[in-house]
Amino acid sequence: MLYERVFKPLLLRMDPERAHETVTTALKLAQEIPGAPAVFDRYAAKPEPRLSVKAFGLKFPNPIGLAAGFDKNCRMSRVLPALGFGFLELGSVTLRPQKGNVRPRVFRLPEQSAVINRQGFPGAGARACAARLARAGKSPVPVGINIGLNADCPPERAPQEYAQTFKILEPYGDYFVVNVSSPNTEGLRELQERRKLEKILEAVRAENKAGKPVLIKISPDVSDAGLFALVETAKSQAAGIVAGNTTVSRPGVPASAGDVRGGLSGKPLRALSTNLVRKIFRLSGGAVPVVAAGGVFTGGDALEKIRAGACLVQLYTGLVYRGPGAPRAIARELAELLAQNGFAGVSSAVGTGA
Ligand SMILES: Cc1cc2nc3c(=O)[nH]c(=O)nc-3n(C[C@H](O)[C@H](O)[C@H](O)COP(=O)(O)O)c2cc1C
Repeated sequence: MLYERVFKPLLLRMDPERAHETVTTALKLAQEIPGAPAVFDRYAAKPEPRLSVKAFGLKFPNPIGLAAGFDKNCRMSRVLPALGFGFLELGSVTLRPQKGNVRPRVFRLPEQSAVINRQGFPGAGARACAARLARAGKSPVPVGINIGLNADCPPERAPQEYAQTFKILEPYGDYFVVNVSSPNTEGLRELQERRKLEKILEAVRAENKAGKPVLIKISPDVSDAGLFALVETAKSQAAGIVAGNTTVSRPGVPASAGDVRGGLSGKPLRALSTNLVRKIFRLSGGAVPVVAAGGVFTGGDALEKIRAGACLVQLYTGLVYRGPGAPRAIARELAELLAQNGFAGVSSAVGTGA
């Protein structure tokens, strides 16, 4: 295939962030060609009986979504659905523009099919993202917007800043995610503490006039006690949990390759995030919708997450290594596996391996 033979070797030779910028620029330009979004829409995933999912009041044509971080600046919302994604999660978007950490800050571990990143939410800020989404028009698949926090936000202002960011972006997202789990913004993961998170969710709820689903994104590094509290908070105050973010641990990564500060994603994260999904499903008795992310490369990986309790699945690193054909291929593989295993649809498989 053209991607495997030509583009992948070229992109993998470039600095990871430069490669990502090159891809983003190409896709953004494609999206801006007059009339192009309507053409891309024709390639977007259509609901199929075996793959369609209903979750937190939304309908998804398939459960394979784009994880946050790939389209941080909301530039590709009308072109990415053409890759076959069942939904997109854009962001993380912060209230004010910021540069993020110094480069280099994204590192590939090709032998492990992994990435370590410490980007620290570089981005154009909420107003610029809202303007882009207004210009782009409605995506043919559900769009989530993931909200982060500026590095200079004092902890006590976190509730207001999440709420303000939500307010600016509210018209453009079908669902929202409060990200309290990126390891690259100092103090962010401490916002997973129960009282702090409740205050954030209360502040966001005060701005949520249309009652859009608001989920929380958590870290696979939380303690069992911390997870119990997060699940309790989610049960009463959130529409679901995105499980999860990158890990600061280094499972299955040789010390020489793992000796880089940042969050690890990709294959080595797979089992850790599946276990997180399973724990949430058990703790909540299946009452909290779970969006799983971490090491999804194949339909088998997606089914593993679904059987552990996820109703939706996302990928980022799998897209880096498997290429633009990944979402469509994973959805097709999942449909085949569901059929082979006697599942009529995704929902009948959720939690069957928990
Ligand atoms: C380069 C990079 C940047 C990321 N940026 C964000 C981000 O801004 N917000 C967020 O919630 N997650 C971010 N993530 C985490 C992913 O959304 C996802 O949770 C994690 O990578 C696990 O999925 P994967 O193994 O399929 O990559 C990022 C991941 C990578 C690799």
